[in-house]
Amino acid sequence: MNTRDQQTTLEQAARKRIKDSHALDSDADRLSHFYREWASSYDLDVGRDGYCGPMIVAELAGAVQTAYLASQRAAIAILDAGCGTGLVGVELERLGFRLIDGFDLSVEMAERARQTRVYRHVRGDVDLNERLSHHSSASYDITVSCGVFTLGHVRPDGLRELARVTRPNGFVIASTRKSYAVATSFEDEVQRLHDDGILVPAQRLNDGRYVAEEDAHYWVFQVPKKASAPTEELP
Ligand SMILES: C[S@@+](CC[C@H](N)C(=O)[O-])C[C@H]1O[C@@H](n2cnc3c(N)ncnc32)[C@H](O)[C@@H]1O
Repeated sequence: MNTRDQQTTLEQAARKRIKDSHALDSDADRLSHFYREWASSYDLDVGRDGYCGPMIVAELAGAVQTAYLASQRAAIAILDAGCGTGLVGVELERLGFRLIDGFDLSVEMAERARQTRVYRHVRGDVDLNERLSHHSSASYDITVSCGVFTLGHVRPDGLRELARVTRPNGFVIASTRKSYAVATSFEDEVQRLHDDGILVPAQRLNDGRYVAEEDAHYWVFQVPKKASAPTEELP
């Protein structure tokens, strides 16, 4: 097998693994098992598939901080929900964020994130399809989640918990694969959250690059202001 054939075989194997991850029915045991096995080769596999979600999500967080938040970047408390091996944290750190916490369902993926040393705290065994019982309300200026609102992983109503742990006037930034957004009627949940006063859709990048075989939408939501909250406003 020549080098190009080897490369193609590796890319096909990476795509198969990514596709297999979408068939896990949001079942916490199956997801944990799958990512336990994948943790050591995850970065290589998604790199082979041209995964650029982490860079885009981190750059959106940077733009939101510059445009709307009074605190300097290094003082912004930011939560990376479903941090995986830490690809988003590494990008956030590159952009000047310093107070980065992360959690993930998979203990093994979370351990990889910890090893990047860009996170302040990382917790494994945290399920975003349940209440985030270890996380207090209104704790973060920005919450980001990349590659987690994806088929077979976290259901759209996981956004509610991300909104709860983010402070009023703070932001939640999430990617959704196009196929996930369609299959889960993600926009209907966004409308419900808006109607319930939990999140306001503020910006959206449609059909942005994500992986080689599919684009994603990138969402920026703002947590509505409460009576006693600070006053950064969207224009
Ligand atoms: C495609 S990876 C994305 C990881 C990282 N955010 C990135 O962009 O590289 C999906 C991650 O979501 C985590 N995950 C899946 N279901 C989850 C759940 N219910 N709660 C929290 N994390 C979950 C997986 O363990 C995995 O690390």
